[in-house]
Amino acid sequence: MKKITLILTFLTAVFVLCTSCCEHKPYKIIGCTIVCDTPARPAGQQDMLGFAAEPMDTVRVGFIGLGSRGIGGPKRWSQIDGTKIVALCDLNQERIDKAQGYLDKAGRPRAAEYTGSEDAWRKLCERDDIDLVYVATPWAWHVEMSLYAMECGKHVAVEVPAAFTMEELWQLIDTSERTRRHCMMLENCIYDFFELTTLNMAQQGLFGEILHTEGAYIHSLDHSMRRPDRTWRIDHLRNFRGDAYPTHGLGPLCLALNIHRGDRLKTLVAMDTKAVMGPDIYASAHGERLNDFQNGDQTTTLIRTEHGKVIQLHHNIVTPRPYSRDYALVGTNGYAVKYPVEALRIGNEVPEGVSPVSLRAHPFMSDEERDALLEEYEHPILKEVGSMAKKVGGHGGMDYIMDYRLVYCLRHGLPLDMDVYDLAEWSCPAPLSALSLQHGSAPVAVPDFTRGAWNRVNGYRHAMKE
Ligand SMILES: NC(=O)c1ccc[n+]([C@@H]2O[C@H](COP(=O)([O-])OP(=O)(O)OC[C@H]3O[C@@H](n4cnc5c(N)ncnc54)[C@H](O)[C@@H]3O)[C@@H](O)[C@H]2O)c1
Repeated sequence: MKKITLILTFLTAVFVLCTSCCEHKPYKIIGCTIVCDTPARPAGQQDMLGFAAEPMDTVRVGFIGLGSRGIGGPKRWSQIDGTKIVALCDLNQERIDKAQGYLDKAGRPRAAEYTGSEDAWRKLCERDDIDLVYVATPWAWHVEMSLYAMECGKHVAVEVPAAFTMEELWQLIDTSERTRRHCMMLENCIYDFFELTTLNMAQQGLFGEILHTEGAYIHSLDHSMRRPDRTWRIDHLRNFRGDAYPTHGLGPLCLALNIHRGDRLKTLVAMDTKAVMGPDIYASAHGERLNDFQNGDQTTTLIRTEHGKVIQLHHNIVTPRPYSRDYALVGTNGYAVKYPVEALRIGNEVPEGVSPVSLRAHPFMSDEERDALLEEYEHPILKEVGSMAKKVGGHGGMDYIMDYRLVYCLRHGLPLDMDVYDLAEWSCPAPLSALSLQHGSAPVAVPDFTRGAWNRVNGYRHAMKE
């Protein structure tokens, strides 16, 4: 009996050793750095840098997901020329009715409806009279819906973040490259007024060389996440340790730093606090207190670029911090910051009569000087649609500008403002910060999602018709 037990123990040990050795991890640890696998580009497939689709007179769109975020889509699109809202899909009929109400109000024809099952959206994607599928469903659906829409020959605009795993990000890239369909993430924060104008200032060299940048998603969602009918977000955080929402903070910074247009994200490290408020919110929403809630209340990620710039990101949606996306650009000749108040400093001149070593030697510009500069450097897109955007609204207008630009570029056959590599770069801090945290805040190499083309384009520019 003793002999049999010994043999069994030995065999079990051999089995465990073999399976753990053979288990494929999608990364290697080289030195102290975690390096994720980069799948080779399938033969015959080309990158999407500068890709533009055939121009179209009218952009025919189908919306999937009409919840608190998605409902604004049909409302805004019904106020943009050159669009046709062909189809609406949600699990909830009342939300479809509400969207139809916006079309009625704008004097637009009613759209076809898809509801009644979790898969009704597939039929919307299969229609042959839609150019673009606009996805604003919870995170768990983003990838499946985007992939299927592209396979059906549709361009895709998908909410943030696009995906939570590296494998999914590569699937989105590969499918976009193979089908030659746009796959754009709906990152609205790149269109906010201060961000657009300071991007213009950065592109004209006002800040000198931008060396350091800061971004964040700090938004107390405590009350909304405690609601038992809206638990998908806190449910996700239960099992996800990392920055779950990096794109609002990161997007505008990557444009100012010309990421994959001359520079690239290279190394990332993350650190988080313990989870205190997260489990408390989870307990309110589900009536169950957990001891293994994963998401730290505040997560900080640092990313260094190939050319030695640093990006600092924060994620905190559970403590009572006032809303902030941080947004700071630190350059050799100036500084811009947005929260808690928009402020600028350009140049290093010491005001007359002030000692250079005095604290008063380094103030922000006066409000008058700041406003004059913001007016002088107002971004051309804001000159074109800024006042209409304020009228239609959507986060103060930036949502309208995002939709307007998407329609503008599709109608004129121009590259979109954000490509599938932006989608991957701005979403990847979610899986990569998780990987860093799993390994004691170890550095993680950020893959080059363009697979070799990050330095081909010289600087970020919005495409404009001639
Ligand atoms: N860019 C921004 O400023 C911003 C702001 C808020 C939310 N978001 C993003 O928008 C997305 C949606 O968030 P939300 O707050 O509107 O969530 P929500 O829960 O309010 O709405 C989601 C909607 O999707 C519908 N839905 C779910 N599964 C579906 C399916 N299989 N088929 C059809 N419809 C389905 C639900 O019925 C619901 O109406 C998320 O990705 C979120 O991160 C972005």
